[in-house]
Amino acid sequence: MKPNIGITDKNLKESCNLLNNCLADAHILYFKLRKYHWNLKGDNFMELHKVFEKQYEILQNAIDEIAERVSQLGGVAIGTTSEFAKNSSLKEQPGKNPENNLDMVKELLEDHETIIKNLRQGVDDADEKFSDQGTADFLTGLMESHEKMAWILRRYFK
Ligand SMILES: [Fe+2]
Repeated sequence: MKPNIGITDKNLKESCNLLNNCLADAHILYFKLRKYHWNLKGDNFMELHKVFEKQYEILQNAIDEIAERVSQLGGVAIGTTSEFAKNSSLKEQPGKNPENNLDMVKELLEDHETIIKNLRQGVDDADEKFSDQGTADFLTGLMESHEKMAWILRRYFK
């Protein structure tokens, strides 16, 4: 049964597309955080190992909430690695790792910042174009969580 919650079918579909793109971004960053958690070496190994772990745990929870919101709005959450790669604005580097630990931090920081910019646009679109205040509020919370994670990574640089 379709949700009867004061949002047109067209706008529900638009919100679901937006959320699926956020889901794809969250997955790609989740994979990258895990990959770098495994491949750190040298200075700051254990500290960054823990920092990356904390962040992928936060993303793991966010991923479930994003996917379930798609379902709540009558859509179908994407769930394959090929769809995540296709729908995400983040880039992976198969077979390669950044030269050193701080380069990993920098790349992850830039990915958070890309997601923050996408989410900021998403908040405006959900509210102004799709009349979906719930999704706008949800994405605002998600954006704040990425702003905090980005801040933690940014503090490694002067
Ligand atoms: Fe681990």
